[in-house]
Parts: sequence; structure tokens; C-alpha cells
Amino acid sequence: AINAIQNNFTKYTQNEGIPELREAVAEKFRRDNNLDVHLDNILISSGGKQSIYNAILSICNPGDEVIVIAPYYVSYPEMVRLANAEPVIFQTNEEDDFHIDFAKFGQLFSNRTKAIIINSPSNPTGTVYEEDEMTKLAELALKHNVYVISDEIYEKIIFDAKKHYSIGSIKEVARQVITINGVSKAYAMTGWRIGFMAANEEIIKLSSKIQSQVTSNPSSISQVAALEAITGSQDQVDIMRQEYERRRDYTCERLLKINGITMSKPHGAFYAFPSVKRFFGRSYKGNEIRNSLDISKFLLDEARVAVVPGTAFGSNDHIRISFASSADDLDKGLTRITKALDSLN
Ligand SMILES: Cc1ncc(COP(=O)(O)O)c(C=O)c1O
Repeated sequence: AINAIQNNFTKYTQNEGIPELREAVAEKFRRDNNLDVHLDNILISSGGKQSIYNAILSICNPGDEVIVIAPYYVSYPEMVRLANAEPVIFQTNEEDDFHIDFAKFGQLFSNRTKAIIINSPSNPTGTVYEEDEMTKLAELALKHNVYVISDEIYEKIIFDAKKHYSIGSIKEVARQVITINGVSKAYAMTGWRIGFMAANEEIIKLSSKIQSQVTSNPSSISQVAALEAITGSQDQVDIMRQEYERRRDYTCERLLKINGITMSKPHGAFYAFPSVKRFFGRSYKGNEIRNSLDISKFLLDEARVAVVPGTAFGSNDHIRISFASSADDLDKGLTRITKALDSLN
């Protein structure tokens, strides 16, 4: 990035992203994800978020339905609504480790269904879909002729020897899959704002048109930084993955010791998603805790720890705790959370 600045690589680039980066991303998708893609199948955008929004705007007409699996990444339903389409929420449960019950899931499709959004590893649950789940999802997408937007931004943050499986690698359904990734999570480059989409040429053309009217190319400087991240040594990626796994183990062990907490162990991403419903109905300083918002406020006021209420992700029984922080901060935060929740018991 510093070289890019010093060489005055600071002007507009091609709207779709610089060819070198598009080619490097295509190569990454071929190598890591077994996708059959080339430069024309790649669009570089200002963050994975813009890639997802471009995808939704490209395929949805007003009144279309998009199936969103809860607990979901907060922005999916809102992006669908911004496209004047309708999110149809499918609830998964902690008891099933937030995996899909396909007998129920199959009933959700209507003649208005345009797409399914999936996110494995998941924010907020850490659930990783297995190959057989991807096969079933692909079968449904083919049967109902719908797109699959597969948000794979946490691909590299995966634990317990689980394997990341890209639905776009299933040949029969590949043209209906829009794969999203980016540099935010794998390289901790959240502020650089580089995301990318792999899709069939038509979707890329449509998304590119939308992007050209809204933002044009993502930052030229960030594109050069992303190219370096993707093509340079990948050693740090696995070092960080191992570090996140240690933090995951530590966070889960501490949380599960708290009386009243239950939790499905996250196999990827960097969030714990414990159920706090057993604390509903308790009170502190005359305030009743009725939901995930109240308990988040309680933890902010009494433990001075910021967690995200599960309602934001479509699950009121839970809170989301990030374990991306340093081991020291995690220790302090978890000690305070334990003390505060114990005071409610
Ligand atoms: C599931 C998921 N998708 C997409 C994004 C957005 O990524 P980016 O920072 O590249 O826009 C995030 C960021 O938190 C995320 O958790």
C-alpha cells in the first residue's frame, strides 16, 4: 500500500477492480475453493458487505423472497429489504448446533423465492456446514431454480479440523451460486474495505453496473494491499487461526462454567453465542431482565463489557461475545461477566 501511494497509484482504477487482483482472486477461488472461475467471473468491491449487497440488488425484483437462515448476520435481512424484496427467515436452534432441519427447510420455498443466503462458518453461531448439507442445499437450489449467495468470509477461521466446503464447487449448481469473500477476516484487514464476488458473467456484469453508479472502484491503494495479502506468504493466516482456536477454547470453557449458561461450541469465526434465557425474569437494581437486550445492557452497566444482543441476529435467547480480542482482555472481560451473572443466580 505504501508503494502504491509513493508510485501515485491513487487514481480511479477499472470499476471491476484491477486485473491483477481479479486474476489473483480467481486463482484463490480455484485453488482453495475448487471453483471453476476466471477473471470475468470476479468483481472486487468495497468490502464483503458491498459484494453481498451488489449480489442481492442484481438478482432481486420487488416482491421476491430471499431465504435467510437465523441466527443470521445482521445485514442480510436489511439488505434484502433495501432491494424491496422480502426476507423469509428460517430459524435454526442451539439444540441442533444451528444446523438446518431439511424436512422443514424444504417447505419454505415458494414461486417467489429468488435466493438463499448461507454463511459458513457463521457469524454469529460459528456453525460450519458439512459437505452433505451443501449437497442438500444445492439440490434444493436446483429443484427450485434459485440462487445461493454463499458468504464465506470466515473461511480461514475454522477449528477442530473441520473443512470449509464451497457450494460453488458443485458443478451442477455452480452457475446459480454467488460466492462472497474478502480480506477483512482472513487477514484482519477490516479497515481496507476489500471484498470480492465470484459468479457467472451475467451476475458480474449486473453487479458491476450497480457498483459503477454507486461507488466505482474500491480504493486503488487497498486493492494493491489486498493483492499482496492474497499472493504473499499465507503463514500468518494459520498462525492466527490457531490463536483464535485457543481463544475459542478459553472463552467456551469460562462461559460454560457460569451457572445458567448453555452454548453450542463454535467451529469457526470468532464469536461465542451463549444462551442467556435462564436469566430472563431475574432483576437487578429494580430492573427486570426480560430479553437479550436487557441482559446486554445489564452486562454493559454492571460488568462494563459490551456484548451484542441476540435479537440483532434474529435470536432473542442469546448474546454474542467476540473472542477476537487479546487473551488479556478476554480474561478481564470473562471474569467480569462471570461475577455479574453469578450475582443474578
Ligand atoms: C458474515 C459476515 N459477512 C460479511 C461481513 C462484512 O465484511 P466486510 O468487512 O468485508 O464488509 C462480515 C463482517 O463482520 C460478516 O461477519
